[in-house]
Amino acid sequence: MLGNLKPQQPDKILALMGEFRADTRQGKIDLGVGVYKDASGNTPIMRAVKAAEQRMLETETTKSYTALPGEPAFRDAMAAMILGEPPADRLASLATVGGTGAIRQGLELARMASPGLTVWYSDPTWPNHLSILDFMGIPKRAYRYFDAETRGVDFEGMAADLAQAQPGDVVLLHGCCHNPTGANLTATQWEEVAGLLERTGALPLIDLAYQGFGDGLDQDAEGTRLIAARLPETLIAASCSKNFGIYRERTGVLLALSYPAARDLTQGAMAFLNRQTYSFPPDHGARIVSTILGDAELAADWKAELEEVRNHMLALRSQLAGELRDLTGSNRFDFIEEHRGMFSRLGATPEQVEAIKRDAAIYIVGDSRINIAGLNRDTVPILARAIVEAGV
Ligand code: LMR
Repeated sequence: MLGNLKPQQPDKILALMGEFRADTRQGKIDLGVGVYKDASGNTPIMRAVKAAEQRMLETETTKSYTALPGEPAFRDAMAAMILGEPPADRLASLATVGGTGAIRQGLELARMASPGLTVWYSDPTWPNHLSILDFMGIPKRAYRYFDAETRGVDFEGMAADLAQAQPGDVVLLHGCCHNPTGANLTATQWEEVAGLLERTGALPLIDLAYQGFGDGLDQDAEGTRLIAARLPETLIAASCSKNFGIYRERTGVLLALSYPAARDLTQGAMAFLNRQTYSFPPDHGARIVSTILGDAELAADWKAELEEVRNHMLALRSQLAGELRDLTGSNRFDFIEEHRGMFSRLGATPEQVEAIKRDAAIYIVGDSRINIAGLNRDTVPILARAIVEAGV
Protein backbone atom coordinates (compact mmCIF):
# COMPACT_ATOMS: atom_id res chain seq x y z
CA MET A 1 0.00 0.00 0.00
CA LEU A 2 2.68 2.50 0.96
CA GLY A 3 4.27 1.92 -2.43
CA ASN A 4 1.29 3.79 -3.89
CA LEU A 5 2.48 7.02 -2.30
CA LYS A 6 3.47 9.76 -4.71
CA PRO A 7 6.86 11.46 -4.27
CA GLN A 8 6.42 14.87 -2.65
CA GLN A 9 8.04 18.01 -3.95
CA PRO A 10 10.61 19.03 -1.34
CA ASP A 11 9.93 22.43 0.27
CA LYS A 12 12.22 24.88 -1.54
CA ILE A 13 13.45 26.58 1.60
CA LEU A 14 14.19 23.32 3.42
CA ALA A 15 15.83 21.80 0.31
CA LEU A 16 18.18 24.80 0.14
CA MET A 17 19.10 24.21 3.80
CA GLY A 18 20.21 20.67 2.86
CA GLU A 19 22.17 21.89 -0.18
CA PHE A 20 23.99 24.44 1.98
CA ARG A 21 24.98 21.81 4.55
CA ALA A 22 26.37 19.57 1.80
CA ASP A 23 28.51 22.36 0.27
CA THR A 24 32.13 21.89 1.40
CA ARG A 25 33.41 25.32 0.29
CA GLN A 26 35.09 27.49 2.92
CA GLY A 27 33.31 30.77 3.61
CA LYS A 28 29.92 29.67 2.22
CA ILE A 29 27.08 31.96 3.29
CA ASP A 30 23.53 30.82 4.11
CA LEU A 31 20.86 33.43 3.37
CA GLY A 32 18.12 30.83 2.94
CA VAL A 33 15.94 29.71 5.83
CA GLY A 34 14.61 32.43 8.14
CA VAL A 35 16.75 31.86 11.21
CA TYR A 36 18.39 34.74 13.07
CA LYS A 37 22.17 34.65 13.38
CA ASP A 38 24.24 37.02 15.48
CA ALA A 39 27.43 38.76 14.36
CA SER A 40 29.45 35.55 14.88
CA GLY A 41 27.00 33.42 12.91
CA ASN A 42 25.35 31.68 15.86
CA THR A 43 21.65 31.37 16.64
CA PRO A 44 21.86 32.07 20.36
CA ILE A 45 19.42 31.09 23.09
CA MET A 46 18.13 34.42 24.40
CA ARG A 47 19.17 35.33 27.95
CA ALA A 48 15.60 35.49 29.27
CA VAL A 49 14.80 32.11 27.70
CA LYS A 50 17.72 30.47 29.53
CA ALA A 51 16.70 32.16 32.78
CA ALA A 52 13.09 31.05 32.36
CA GLU A 53 14.17 27.47 31.67
CA GLN A 54 16.37 27.52 34.76
CA ARG A 55 13.44 28.73 36.84
CA MET A 56 11.16 26.08 35.34
CA LEU A 57 13.70 23.36 36.10
CA GLU A 58 13.67 24.38 39.74
CA THR A 59 9.95 25.00 40.22
CA GLU A 60 8.02 22.70 37.87
CA THR A 61 6.36 19.93 39.81
CA THR A 62 4.53 17.95 37.12
CA LYS A 63 4.62 17.00 33.47
CA SER A 64 0.98 15.99 33.44
CA TYR A 65 -1.24 17.20 30.58
CA THR A 66 -1.86 20.86 30.13
CA ALA A 67 -5.35 22.22 29.20
CA LEU A 68 -6.60 21.13 25.75
CA PRO A 69 -6.38 24.66 24.27
CA GLY A 70 -3.08 25.24 26.17
CA GLU A 71 -2.35 27.04 29.43
CA PRO A 72 -4.40 30.23 29.94
CA ALA A 73 -1.31 32.08 31.23
CA PHE A 74 0.42 31.58 27.87
CA ARG A 75 -2.62 32.37 25.74
CA ASP A 76 -3.47 35.49 27.73
CA ALA A 77 0.10 36.78 27.68
CA MET A 78 0.30 36.30 23.92
CA ALA A 79 -3.10 37.95 23.37
CA ALA A 80 -1.89 40.96 25.38
CA MET A 81 1.41 41.13 23.48
CA ILE A 82 -0.36 41.00 20.13
CA LEU A 83 -3.51 43.02 20.76
CA GLY A 84 -2.52 45.33 23.60
CA GLU A 85 -5.87 45.23 25.35
CA PRO A 86 -7.71 42.14 24.11
CA PRO A 87 -11.52 42.25 24.29
CA ALA A 88 -12.20 39.31 26.66
CA ASP A 89 -15.84 38.90 25.56
CA ARG A 90 -14.80 38.39 21.92
CA LEU A 91 -11.54 36.46 22.27
CA ALA A 92 -10.93 32.72 21.92
CA SER A 93 -7.38 31.35 21.84
CA LEU A 94 -5.46 28.16 21.22
CA ALA A 95 -1.87 27.11 21.88
CA THR A 96 -0.53 25.45 18.75
CA VAL A 97 2.49 23.60 17.44
CA GLY A 98 4.40 26.64 16.19
CA GLY A 99 3.11 29.36 13.90
CA THR A 100 2.59 26.79 11.15
CA GLY A 101 0.26 24.89 13.49
CA ALA A 102 -1.65 28.12 14.13
CA ILE A 103 -2.06 28.72 10.39
CA ARG A 104 -3.23 25.16 9.88
CA GLN A 105 -5.73 25.30 12.77
CA GLY A 106 -6.93 28.74 11.64
CA LEU A 107 -7.64 27.40 8.16
CA GLU A 108 -9.37 24.31 9.59
CA LEU A 109 -11.53 26.56 11.78
CA ALA A 110 -12.45 28.84 8.86
CA ARG A 111 -13.34 25.82 6.73
CA MET A 112 -15.53 24.35 9.49
CA ALA A 113 -17.44 27.66 9.57
CA SER A 114 -17.44 28.25 5.81
CA PRO A 115 -16.98 25.01 3.83
CA GLY A 116 -17.10 26.75 0.44
CA LEU A 117 -14.37 29.26 1.23
CA THR A 118 -11.66 30.56 -1.09
CA VAL A 119 -8.44 31.77 0.51
CA TRP A 120 -6.86 34.93 -0.92
CA TYR A 121 -3.08 35.07 -0.58
CA SER A 122 -0.50 37.72 -1.39
CA ASP A 123 1.53 37.22 -4.55
CA PRO A 124 4.12 36.23 -3.48
CA THR A 125 3.70 34.61 -0.08
CA TRP A 126 5.49 32.11 2.15
CA PRO A 127 5.56 28.95 -0.07
CA ASN A 128 4.23 26.77 2.73
CA HIS A 129 0.97 28.78 2.83
CA LEU A 130 0.26 27.56 -0.69
CA SER A 131 1.41 24.04 0.02
CA ILE A 132 -0.86 23.77 3.08
CA LEU A 133 -3.84 25.13 1.13
CA ASP A 134 -3.25 22.67 -1.71
CA PHE A 135 -2.85 19.77 0.71
CA MET A 136 -6.11 20.73 2.42
CA GLY A 137 -7.83 21.04 -0.98
CA ILE A 138 -8.90 24.63 -0.28
CA PRO A 139 -9.39 26.78 -3.40
CA LYS A 140 -7.02 29.74 -3.45
CA ARG A 141 -6.67 33.00 -5.34
CA ALA A 142 -3.75 35.41 -5.46
CA TYR A 143 -4.01 39.12 -4.81
CA ARG A 144 -1.34 41.40 -6.24
CA TYR A 145 1.12 42.56 -3.60
CA PHE A 146 4.70 43.14 -4.75
CA ASP A 147 5.68 45.71 -7.33
CA ALA A 148 8.75 44.21 -9.04
CA GLU A 149 9.77 47.62 -10.36
CA THR A 150 9.80 49.59 -7.08
CA ARG A 151 10.24 46.55 -4.78
CA GLY A 152 7.42 48.10 -2.73
CA VAL A 153 3.75 47.18 -2.33
CA ASP A 154 1.48 47.36 -5.39
CA PHE A 155 -1.39 48.65 -3.28
CA GLU A 156 -3.63 49.60 -6.18
CA GLY A 157 -3.42 46.04 -7.49
CA MET A 158 -3.94 44.60 -4.01
CA ALA A 159 -7.06 46.70 -3.38
CA ALA A 160 -8.53 45.92 -6.80
CA ASP A 161 -8.06 42.17 -6.27
CA LEU A 162 -9.31 42.07 -2.69
CA ALA A 163 -12.46 43.94 -3.71
CA GLN A 164 -13.48 40.68 -5.42
CA ALA A 165 -13.41 38.60 -2.22
CA GLN A 166 -16.75 37.16 -1.17
CA PRO A 167 -18.42 36.80 2.24
CA GLY A 168 -17.15 33.52 3.71
CA ASP A 169 -13.74 33.84 2.01
CA VAL A 170 -10.52 34.22 3.97
CA VAL A 171 -7.91 36.88 3.24
CA LEU A 172 -4.48 35.78 4.39
CA LEU A 173 -2.41 38.82 5.41
CA HIS A 174 1.13 39.18 6.75
CA GLY A 175 0.90 41.22 9.96
CA CYS A 176 4.40 42.68 9.53
CA CYS A 177 7.79 41.87 7.97
CA HIS A 178 6.25 40.38 4.81
CA ASN A 179 7.75 37.02 3.89
CA PRO A 180 9.31 36.77 1.28
CA THR A 181 9.50 40.40 0.11
CA GLY A 182 10.17 42.61 3.17
CA ALA A 183 7.73 45.20 1.71
CA ASN A 184 4.98 46.22 4.14
CA LEU A 185 1.70 48.11 4.27
CA THR A 186 1.58 51.64 5.69
CA ALA A 187 -0.90 52.54 8.45
CA THR A 188 -3.15 54.23 5.86
CA GLN A 189 -3.07 51.12 3.67
CA TRP A 190 -4.04 48.94 6.64
CA GLU A 191 -7.04 51.27 7.12
CA GLU A 192 -7.98 50.73 3.51
CA VAL A 193 -7.62 46.94 3.86
CA ALA A 194 -9.94 47.09 6.87
CA GLY A 195 -12.47 48.98 4.73
CA LEU A 196 -12.20 46.39 1.96
CA LEU A 197 -12.76 43.55 4.41
CA GLU A 198 -15.79 45.37 5.86
CA ARG A 199 -17.24 45.87 2.40
CA THR A 200 -16.64 42.33 1.14
CA GLY A 201 -17.43 40.43 4.34
CA ALA A 202 -14.27 38.30 3.98
CA LEU A 203 -12.54 37.05 7.13
CA PRO A 204 -8.94 38.18 7.76
CA LEU A 205 -6.38 35.56 8.83
CA ILE A 206 -3.25 37.43 9.87
CA ASP A 207 0.04 35.56 9.92
CA LEU A 208 2.17 37.28 12.57
CA ALA A 209 5.47 35.40 12.61
CA TYR A 210 7.93 38.29 13.09
CA GLN A 211 6.46 40.65 15.70
CA GLY A 212 9.38 42.69 17.06
CA PHE A 213 11.64 42.12 14.06
CA GLY A 214 10.52 45.16 12.06
CA ASP A 215 10.08 48.43 13.96
CA GLY A 216 9.21 47.25 17.48
CA LEU A 217 6.78 44.98 19.32
CA ASP A 218 3.92 47.48 19.38
CA GLN A 219 4.65 49.07 16.01
CA ASP A 220 4.72 45.66 14.28
CA ALA A 221 1.29 44.83 15.70
CA GLU A 222 -0.37 48.09 14.60
CA GLY A 223 -1.94 46.70 11.44
CA THR A 224 -3.18 43.61 13.28
CA ARG A 225 -4.66 45.72 16.10
CA LEU A 226 -6.41 47.99 13.64
CA ILE A 227 -8.02 45.07 11.80
CA ALA A 228 -8.96 43.35 15.07
CA ALA A 229 -10.59 46.53 16.41
CA ARG A 230 -12.56 47.33 13.25
CA LEU A 231 -13.69 43.94 12.00
CA PRO A 232 -16.28 41.86 13.86
CA GLU A 233 -14.26 38.69 13.22
CA THR A 234 -10.51 38.20 12.86
CA LEU A 235 -8.12 35.25 13.05
CA ILE A 236 -4.49 35.77 14.07
CA ALA A 237 -1.83 33.06 13.80
CA ALA A 238 1.28 34.04 15.74
CA SER A 239 4.66 32.37 16.12
CA CYS A 240 7.16 32.58 19.00
CA SER A 241 9.90 30.94 16.93
CA LYS A 242 11.66 34.11 15.86
CA ASN A 243 10.97 36.77 18.50
CA PHE A 244 11.76 34.37 21.37
CA GLY A 245 14.29 32.41 19.30
CA ILE A 246 12.67 29.12 20.33
CA TYR A 247 12.34 27.67 16.84
CA ARG A 248 12.57 24.01 17.82
CA GLU A 249 10.16 24.26 20.76
CA ARG A 250 7.33 24.78 18.22
CA THR A 251 5.40 27.47 20.05
CA GLY A 252 2.53 29.38 18.53
CA VAL A 253 -0.95 30.68 19.22
CA LEU A 254 -4.16 31.10 17.28
CA LEU A 255 -6.39 33.99 18.36
CA ALA A 256 -9.98 34.24 17.12
CA LEU A 257 -12.03 37.39 17.65
CA SER A 258 -15.74 36.95 17.07
CA TYR A 259 -19.08 38.48 18.01
CA PRO A 260 -19.49 37.94 21.79
CA ALA A 261 -22.39 35.53 21.10
CA ALA A 262 -20.08 33.26 19.07
CA ARG A 263 -17.12 33.34 21.46
CA ASP A 264 -17.81 30.11 23.36
CA LEU A 265 -18.71 28.27 20.19
CA THR A 266 -15.42 29.37 18.63
CA GLN A 267 -13.39 28.41 21.69
CA GLY A 268 -15.03 24.98 21.74
CA ALA A 269 -14.32 24.39 18.04
CA MET A 270 -10.70 25.38 18.54
CA ALA A 271 -10.16 22.99 21.46
CA PHE A 272 -11.83 20.28 19.36
CA LEU A 273 -9.35 20.93 16.56
CA ASN A 274 -6.40 20.41 18.91
CA ARG A 275 -7.94 17.14 20.14
CA GLN A 276 -8.42 15.86 16.59
CA THR A 277 -4.92 16.83 15.51
CA TYR A 278 -2.56 16.10 18.40
CA SER A 279 -4.64 16.29 21.59
CA PHE A 280 -2.80 18.55 24.01
CA PRO A 281 -0.43 21.19 22.64
CA PRO A 282 3.26 21.17 23.65
CA ASP A 283 3.89 23.13 26.84
CA HIS A 284 7.62 23.70 27.23
CA GLY A 285 7.97 26.61 24.81
CA ALA A 286 4.63 28.09 25.89
CA ARG A 287 5.77 28.00 29.51
CA ILE A 288 9.04 29.72 28.63
CA VAL A 289 7.03 32.52 27.01
CA SER A 290 4.53 32.91 29.86
CA THR A 291 7.35 32.82 32.44
CA ILE A 292 9.12 35.65 30.61
CA LEU A 293 6.06 37.77 29.91
CA GLY A 294 4.75 37.23 33.45
CA ASP A 295 7.89 38.55 35.13
CA ALA A 296 8.77 42.24 34.81
CA GLU A 297 12.53 41.69 34.99
CA LEU A 298 12.67 38.81 32.50
CA ALA A 299 10.28 40.64 30.16
CA ALA A 300 12.46 43.77 30.23
CA ASP A 301 15.59 41.76 29.49
CA TRP A 302 13.88 39.89 26.66
CA LYS A 303 12.66 43.15 25.12
CA ALA A 304 16.16 44.62 25.37
CA GLU A 305 17.69 41.61 23.62
CA LEU A 306 14.96 41.64 20.96
CA GLU A 307 15.83 45.26 20.33
CA GLU A 308 19.50 44.33 19.87
CA VAL A 309 18.43 41.71 17.33
CA ARG A 310 16.26 44.22 15.47
CA ASN A 311 18.94 46.90 15.46
CA HIS A 312 21.51 44.39 14.24
CA MET A 313 19.29 43.60 11.24
CA LEU A 314 18.63 47.30 10.55
CA ALA A 315 22.37 48.02 10.62
CA LEU A 316 23.00 45.19 8.14
CA ARG A 317 20.31 46.61 5.85
CA SER A 318 21.96 50.04 5.89
CA GLN A 319 25.39 48.58 5.31
CA LEU A 320 24.23 46.46 2.37
CA ALA A 321 22.33 49.33 0.74
CA GLY A 322 25.42 51.54 1.25
CA GLU A 323 27.83 49.00 -0.29
CA LEU A 324 25.53 48.59 -3.29
CA ARG A 325 25.22 52.37 -3.67
CA ASP A 326 29.03 52.61 -3.82
CA LEU A 327 29.47 49.67 -6.20
CA THR A 328 26.71 50.64 -8.66
CA GLY A 329 26.89 54.42 -8.34
CA SER A 330 23.09 54.38 -8.07
CA ASN A 331 20.41 54.18 -5.41
CA ARG A 332 18.48 51.37 -7.02
CA PHE A 333 19.08 49.06 -4.05
CA ASP A 334 17.91 51.56 -1.43
CA PHE A 335 14.71 49.52 -1.02
CA ILE A 336 16.79 47.12 1.12
CA GLU A 337 16.95 49.86 3.75
CA GLU A 338 13.22 50.49 3.55
CA HIS A 339 12.17 46.86 3.83
CA ARG A 340 11.59 45.47 7.30
CA GLY A 341 12.04 42.11 9.01
CA MET A 342 14.32 39.25 8.16
CA PHE A 343 13.79 39.23 4.42
CA SER A 344 14.19 41.30 1.28
CA ARG A 345 13.39 40.24 -2.23
CA LEU A 346 16.24 41.44 -4.43
CA GLY A 347 14.48 41.09 -7.77
CA ALA A 348 17.20 38.83 -9.24
CA THR A 349 16.33 36.20 -11.87
CA PRO A 350 16.59 32.48 -10.97
CA GLU A 351 19.69 32.33 -13.21
CA GLN A 352 21.33 35.17 -11.27
CA VAL A 353 20.46 33.46 -7.96
CA GLU A 354 22.05 30.28 -9.30
CA ALA A 355 25.18 32.17 -10.43
CA ILE A 356 25.55 33.75 -6.99
CA LYS A 357 25.43 30.28 -5.44
CA ARG A 358 27.85 28.79 -7.98
CA ASP A 359 30.40 31.60 -8.05
CA ALA A 360 30.22 33.04 -4.54
CA ALA A 361 28.84 30.12 -2.45
CA ILE A 362 26.01 32.37 -1.26
CA TYR A 363 22.70 30.55 -0.80
CA ILE A 364 19.58 32.59 -1.61
CA VAL A 365 16.03 31.25 -2.08
CA GLY A 366 15.22 30.93 -5.83
CA ASP A 367 12.78 33.86 -5.85
CA SER A 368 15.77 36.03 -4.73
CA ARG A 369 14.69 36.34 -1.10
CA ILE A 370 17.66 37.00 1.15
CA ASN A 371 17.67 36.46 4.89
CA ILE A 372 19.26 39.67 6.17
CA ALA A 373 19.90 38.01 9.53
CA GLY A 374 22.16 35.44 7.84
CA LEU A 375 24.70 38.23 7.16
CA ASN A 376 27.35 39.92 9.29
CA ARG A 377 29.57 42.99 8.84
CA ASP A 378 32.21 40.94 7.00
CA THR A 379 29.88 39.08 4.66
CA VAL A 380 27.83 42.12 3.54
CA PRO A 381 30.57 43.36 1.13
CA ILE A 382 30.96 39.83 -0.27
CA LEU A 383 27.21 39.66 -1.00
CA ALA A 384 27.17 43.16 -2.49
CA ARG A 385 29.98 42.25 -4.91
CA ALA A 386 28.29 38.96 -5.84
CA ILE A 387 25.00 40.78 -6.56
CA VAL A 388 26.74 43.23 -8.87
CA GLU A 389 28.88 40.56 -10.55
CA ALA A 390 25.77 38.49 -11.29
CA GLY A 391 24.32 41.53 -13.09
CA VAL A 392 21.31 42.02 -10.79
C1 LMR B 1 11.22 30.83 6.39
O1 LMR B 1 10.38 31.33 5.64
O2 LMR B 1 12.40 30.68 6.07
C2 LMR B 1 10.81 30.41 7.77
O3 LMR B 1 9.50 30.73 7.99
C3 LMR B 1 11.15 29.02 8.07
C4 LMR B 1 10.29 28.03 7.37
O4 LMR B 1 9.75 27.16 8.06
O5 LMR B 1 10.15 28.08 6.14
